[in-house]
Amino acid sequence: MAILAPIFGLILLGLFHTEAKQHTLSSQDASFCHGELEVIYPELDIYECLIIPKSLREQVSQVWKAPQVYFSTAQKKKTYVLVMVDPDAPNRSKPTSAYWRHWLVVDIQGSALKEGQIEGTSLTDYKPPTPPSNSGFHRYQFMLFEQPPDASVSLTEQEEASRGKWDFQAFITSFDLGEPVATLQFLTQNYKD
Ligand SMILES: *[C@@H]1O[C@H](CO)[C@@H](O)[C@H](O)[C@H]1NC(C)=O
Repeated sequence: MAILAPIFGLILLGLFHTEAKQHTLSSQDASFCHGELEVIYPELDIYECLIIPKSLREQVSQVWKAPQVYFSTAQKKKTYVLVMVDPDAPNRSKPTSAYWRHWLVVDIQGSALKEGQIEGTSLTDYKPPTPPSNSGFHRYQFMLFEQPPDASVSLTEQEEASRGKWDFQAFITSFDLGEPVATLQFLTQNYKD
C-alpha cells in the first residue's frame, strides 16, 4: 500500500490534468503549435496554443495593434515569411471564406526576428481578429517560413483584391516555402458572445 498510494495519486493527477486541458483546448488544437515562436500582445504573451481568456477578447479584437513576434532560434543571415490566417471564416463548421489573411510579411530579417522585431515588407497589413457574433471560436494561426534565398515573394493582383478565400497552399507552393519552421495559434470568439 505504501508503494501503491503515490502511484494511484499520480494516475488521479493525470486524469485531472487531461480533463483540465480538454476544457481549454482540444488535443488537435493544442498539437498545432511547434517551434519557439512567441507572439506578444500588450497584456498577453503567447508561446503555446491557447484560448484567449474572456477578459482579454475585447482587447485583442478592438484595442491591440500588431503583436511583437519573437523567434529566438532565427538564423541571423536568413530571411523569413510570416503568415497569420483564420481558417474558420465565417465559421469552423462551414469555412466558405477560408483562408482569411490577417497579416503577411515577407523579407523578414532573421537578425531582427531573433530580437523580437519584424523588419520586412508587409504585403498585407495586420488586421486584428474580429470573429462575427455567434460564429463560435475561430483559430488564428501564425506560421513562420524560411524564405528561399533570392525569392521575390508577392501576391497576385487577384490575391491582393481580397483577404478572404485565400488559396494559402497555392501561395506556399508557388514560392517553394515548404513546411513552416514554427507555428502558433490562439482561439477566440466574438467578445460579446
Ligand atoms: C456557418 O457559415 C455558413 C456559411 O456562411 C452558414 O451558412 C452557416 O449558417 C454558419 N453556421 C453557423 C453555425 O453559424
